[in-house]
Amino acid sequence: MPSFYLTTPLYYVNDAPHIGHAYTTIAADTLARWRRLCGDAVFFLTGTDEHGQKVEQAAMARGQTPLAHADHLVVRFQDLWKRLGISHDDFIRTTEARHVTVVQAVLQRLWEKGEIYADAYQGWYCLPDERFWTEKELVDGNCPDCLRPVTPIRERNYFFRMGKYQDALRDHIRQDASFIRPENRRNEVLGFLARPLGDLCISRPKHRLSWGVPIPFDPDYVTYVWVDALVNYISVAGYATDDARFDRLWPCDLHLVGKDILTTHAVYWTTLLMALDLPLPRHIFAHGWWMSEGEKMSKSRGNVVEPNQVVDAFGAEPFRYFLLREVPFGQDGNFSQAALIGRYNSDLANDLGNLVSRTVSLIAQFSDGTIPAPVSEGSVTEDAEIKQMGLDLFDAVEAAFGAMAFHQALAAIWRYVERANRYIEQTAPWTLAKKVSERARLNTVLYTAAEALRMLALYLTPFLPDASWKINHALGLDAAYDEMPLALRRGWGEMLVGRRVACGPALFPRIEMKAHPPKPHAAEGVSVTQPVPTLDQAPERPMLKPPISIEEFARLDLRVGEIRAAERVPKSKKLLKLSVDIGGEVRQVVAGIGAKYAPEALPEVLVGRKIVLLVNLKPAQIMGIESQGMLLAAGGESVLGLATFLEEIPPGTRIK
Ligand code: MSP
Repeated sequence: MPSFYLTTPLYYVNDAPHIGHAYTTIAADTLARWRRLCGDAVFFLTGTDEHGQKVEQAAMARGQTPLAHADHLVVRFQDLWKRLGISHDDFIRTTEARHVTVVQAVLQRLWEKGEIYADAYQGWYCLPDERFWTEKELVDGNCPDCLRPVTPIRERNYFFRMGKYQDALRDHIRQDASFIRPENRRNEVLGFLARPLGDLCISRPKHRLSWGVPIPFDPDYVTYVWVDALVNYISVAGYATDDARFDRLWPCDLHLVGKDILTTHAVYWTTLLMALDLPLPRHIFAHGWWMSEGEKMSKSRGNVVEPNQVVDAFGAEPFRYFLLREVPFGQDGNFSQAALIGRYNSDLANDLGNLVSRTVSLIAQFSDGTIPAPVSEGSVTEDAEIKQMGLDLFDAVEAAFGAMAFHQALAAIWRYVERANRYIEQTAPWTLAKKVSERARLNTVLYTAAEALRMLALYLTPFLPDASWKINHALGLDAAYDEMPLALRRGWGEMLVGRRVACGPALFPRIEMKAHPPKPHAAEGVSVTQPVPTLDQAPERPMLKPPISIEEFARLDLRVGEIRAAERVPKSKKLLKLSVDIGGEVRQVVAGIGAKYAPEALPEVLVGRKIVLLVNLKPAQIMGIESQGMLLAAGGESVLGLATFLEEIPPGTRIK
């Protein structure tokens, strides 16, 4: 059985997973599922990169040890992969002993071979950031992160003789056109290699960074996080620990990475492998980046697309579908909620969803729920066309996967969805059913439509595993069918004849847009006619706002207030007029809490209650009444409750 070993990058656990992580992992999963369907023994590896400065700093900011921090965040990745239906065969954390021992074995081997040497390193140090920069990284001579001045530093470090492999690597890339893909990225790497390739600093003194793998031949140093992380591709495969396994898995067939980390893979990693006398991976593919609603994604802009929120709102499979259908793999793309809803409604709900429900219900209605045997199969032009297109689908999908063109595979599948829908309209089974003399023709049409659906489900398996399983189930196919080799399943056979169809809920219920446009990434403004299927529902969390400084926060004057009186603003459903004591002064406050609280019926729910009041908000006229403060309440459109205190605190006390 041919084997196929593919990897994703190891994701830093400095923050929660975002769309970029989901993208690579979904693409890798889709390819892994395709190769399994084709009969390959697939080994699909993903995991997390847990050492280094980024993780150490994130842990410090949370007041945790780096390992406790990593333990906490790794679960976010693992849970997301479950929700997205990711079928990895192993998950490596770089803090695991099975990996660390191999990193040290690699370093030791390179040291003994003379591939690593010690030297003094001239660089620049940013004291406030505690970071070391190279001359090239500086911006106008300053720290590229905080733009503050940097101090020159001479430091002893260890270097890998990367430069000596420059020519060999360039030759390899030139000779094997498919080694680095796509073509434009290959050219970028060749461009990079046209300039002299220096040696690589692979150590960090422990006094500057302690969170790393100790260098086995010098305990005062840890290894540079990239060397540590890249080695995962061989540590999990059994390098230096399990020769038989390593021989079976290495060289890896494909490293899937984002364009920003192509150099580390195509240059650092490959030269390290050359120094270890190991064969290079067969292919490296660099995909593009996603923007969010037309803008670069960043935490400070507050526009990072969080995969869990998209899954909450639309379901895991529509997200998978959108990411792989919307943008040719390799190019940059723009994530927008409107585009996702558009694709969902047209491709999934209308085209595919309708085809499934009408095929199944036609069989239920006109053939007592049993898929009939065809009578005149192949003799009518449109039957022959449907059959041929179904048989040809394999070649189209295989070619698209070979070219890493997921969108083309999906386009070919959807051409077939459209053709099958048209077939049903052309043949009009509902009219055939009216005449006894058309019984044979009706049976052929129902059979042909069911067989076309089976073909579609087959090729959708890698992309939409859950929907594909549901279609098979609706066609009465069982687990034994899943075990059948692709060679049998891709044929136009009679395996459906006599099976009982099962009608179920709509596969992809339409999403109805409410009058006002939805806010990016929130589920508000969107409703579905039936609940959107998700693998696992999690509570929805609105997007976090961009960070503010402590100085900005300090501008808010928040005080404990005691509500003295509350009455409804005449003719308003939502507004109440409150008198709030803030210690020696009573403020008049108009608050939008009248849908939640009814002081006219139950004054004590508000009167006497201690609340949080923003007292330095500029006064505003609301329905002709001056409001002299704003109280804090939880909720969005509708108020869920007021911020309040368990303790007795005098009105006017400052809140900070
Ligand atoms: N830890 C390193 C990889 C080590 S591999 C031995 C790392 N981690 S990362 O978490 O920062 O990024 C992982 C991946 O996310 C990269 O492939 C990167 O391209 C991808 N993306 C980050 N932002 C992205 C988008 N906005 N869009 C698409 N992918 C993006 O780098």
